[in-house]
Amino acid sequence: MTQYAFLFGNHPTLSLAELLSFLANHKIPYGKYEMLNDILIIDIQKSPNYIAQLQNELGGVIKIFAVKADFKGKIYELEKILTLDKLMKEFFAQKEHKINFGISVYSDPDPTYAEMTWLNNFAYSIKRRLKDDYSIRYIEDRSSRLSSVQVERNRLIDTGAEIALIRDRDHYYVGKTLSVQDYASYSERDWDKPSPDAKSGMLPPKLAQILLNLARGSRTKVIYDPFCGSGIVLQEALLLDLNIYGSDIAEDAIKNTINNLDWFIKLKKLPKLNLQTHIKEADATKTKWEKLNSAETAIVTEPYLGPPLKKILFGRDAEQTAKELGELYFNFFKNLQKNFPAVKRIGMVFPIFKTRDGLRYIEVLDQIKQLGYTPKQVLAKELIKKDASISKRGGFLYSRPDQLVIRELFFFEKK
Ligand SMILES: C[S@@+](CC[C@H](N)C(=O)[O-])C[C@H]1O[C@@H](n2cnc3c(N)ncnc32)[C@H](O)[C@@H]1O
Repeated sequence: MTQYAFLFGNHPTLSLAELLSFLANHKIPYGKYEMLNDILIIDIQKSPNYIAQLQNELGGVIKIFAVKADFKGKIYELEKILTLDKLMKEFFAQKEHKINFGISVYSDPDPTYAEMTWLNNFAYSIKRRLKDDYSIRYIEDRSSRLSSVQVERNRLIDTGAEIALIRDRDHYYVGKTLSVQDYASYSERDWDKPSPDAKSGMLPPKLAQILLNLARGSRTKVIYDPFCGSGIVLQEALLLDLNIYGSDIAEDAIKNTINNLDWFIKLKKLPKLNLQTHIKEADATKTKWEKLNSAETAIVTEPYLGPPLKKILFGRDAEQTAKELGELYFNFFKNLQKNFPAVKRIGMVFPIFKTRDGLRYIEVLDQIKQLGYTPKQVLAKELIKKDASISKRGGFLYSRPDQLVIRELFFFEKK
């Protein structure tokens, strides 16, 4: 087993669930693991090259590091660990004439001013010792962490290294960055599509990936989104090499989805698809699609979440919308039970409305359970006990502080 560290984004518990589910679905053996705030330290039985390739398939992962050493004590011990010999063999392995490197510290609390000063001096001493043989540049930043953008722009992965120091009290892991999130590609997938759907709100591609990784199982080959909107779930499913089908009640949504997927397939040079036969107009509470009624199909969807909100509602104003959505979702599950009985896995977003009178949930889980669809306990209870990013009824929460609607994610299984 090799030890790796995964830096997660703003939703670490959800991202941990995504990663563990991904490893299980792909039958990738892993050993012990430990969460240190937003970083997971984990043993995985795969090579660094293999692990670096996973970056683009995991929406919740910001950076992946290979752990090269660990030590106990103070930060100054690093000097003994990162000898020139070790640096040249394990960090600057490409040994080209040019070396760019930087150091990031992941620590709670943040490193002190004295520690950062020492670390910068140490980095400059490395530079001094190598400068006669190499054109070497140290990327210094005022913050203790380099961003993915800085790592990418300074080509630290292919021309040198980002050295990561991950601290758990007096225990330090020393890692080398293997990959960083391809922020430019996510932004392109989010903002550049020809037919966005500003009205229904846009599902971030990263979240679509997380939903897909958590909803699918090792047998899943097909993804069906019955509220496909502008097609983001389907777009991300294509990138994960899954077969896709979508439907929506609105004619415009069908046009948008076909237009967007057509653009995406060309952009990513994916195999051509006859999209007209994969995307159709249909009401999710009534539709039937015989060939999708299979245990190889997983349904992944962000359904209609209610009218767009401009200001925070009073509790009573959210009441009517919550009731209508509850009915829509229940009727959707009733239709699944009737027309898609072989489909066993459903990943779905529910809205929670922030109101002046507190949070308003869509109260339909018990009825859905009675139809035979049970929300899966994705993470072991000990991992999530005190975690604020899980709703009172066990859904994962996904939101930004300024949003009036919180997304609550559930992954249902049918017995
Ligand atoms: C929030 S959007 C979906 C966004 C989509 N997940 C995406 O990735 O772009 C919700 C969609 O549900 C559709 N919708 C509303 N009621 C529906 C129904 N009964 N059956 C199917 N689609 C419906 C709307 O037309 C809208 O396009």
